[in-house]
Amino acid sequence: DWIMGNYIEEAVQKIREQVGDEEVILGLSGGVDSSVAAALIHRAIGEQLTCVFVDHGLLRLNEGDMVMDMFAGKLHAKVIRVDASELFLGQLAGVTDPERKRKIIGGLFVDVFKAEAEKLKASGGGHKGATFLAQGTIYPDVVESGGTKTKKATTIKSHHNVGGLPEQLGLKLLEPLRELFKDEVRELGVALGLPPEMVYRHPFPGPGLGVRILGEVKKEYADLLRRADAIFIEELRNTRDEATGKSWYDLTSQAFTVFLPVKSVGVMGDGRTYDYVVALRAVQTSDFMTADWAELPYSLLKRCSGRIINEVRGINRVTYDVSSKPPATIEWE
Ligand code: XMP
Repeated sequence: DWIMGNYIEEAVQKIREQVGDEEVILGLSGGVDSSVAAALIHRAIGEQLTCVFVDHGLLRLNEGDMVMDMFAGKLHAKVIRVDASELFLGQLAGVTDPERKRKIIGGLFVDVFKAEAEKLKASGGGHKGATFLAQGTIYPDVVESGGTKTKKATTIKSHHNVGGLPEQLGLKLLEPLRELFKDEVRELGVALGLPPEMVYRHPFPGPGLGVRILGEVKKEYADLLRRADAIFIEELRNTRDEATGKSWYDLTSQAFTVFLPVKSVGVMGDGRTYDYVVALRAVQTSDFMTADWAELPYSLLKRCSGRIINEVRGINRVTYDVSSKPPATIEWE
């Protein structure tokens, strides 16, 4: 609409003035904030922006390709995709403690991103090299790091959202979303032409599937989990609640699948199976501090379990998590 159009116009002007003819690096994660920041900055300065997308191998099914299709394919932005999955999985081998897993993933993420940023700083592809680091910081993040907000879930589980990186890299900071709330960021994203499915996505934790595979993370587990989770999400998107006409994806605040590295017995055809278990998790919440498990229709749960067990060889049992927060947390680790 008109107001959003004006807002974009102004924001674009501000970015152009701030950046001048210098170069900008942005870490693209596939999440809403970094995506909208990338789309806005790209609108403002085009080729002067280079996005770095670190794929840690713990993303959802086809997620990396989707990010590339959107930003490199449709928006024609410069995007460097770093496939670091072997590095991450290698460092995670044998590690079972959730907080250690988070620390390893967060630490490697910073290392890989820094290495790419250093390269861009030095070369800039024939230009004079990057001088700005762009981040998708939004207003609630600003308030939070100012310490104004009271105790948050982040103190219970260490998040890996990067702090202090611009100083370490010797880059100036560009944060065009600093004054916006989440819903405004979403509206801006749609106005910039990002697909609503991307902009209205459920939150996804930085450590990704690393905290949705209980205990040790293995590629085999991640592959099974990705396929099961894609089925769950597809069914949530395709099933509408009759009363509201909304999809169950939109009626839940966060929904995902958790991989349990235990085996249970089943039957399939005339054979016995001994395979892994997954748990489906769906919650409704307004602030993620407390959450209720979602009362999904039985018919939907039934379709999900039937499809997962039939389509994902290696999983023979599906459970539904009926724990609210507190005392459970939303994620299982
Ligand atoms: P919990 O499990 O603490 O999660 O109830 C609350 C919200 O925070 C997200 N979460 C994370 N996000 N890095 C993130 O970026 C993390 O390490 C992390 N742990 C939890 C979780 O997905 C939920 O939305």
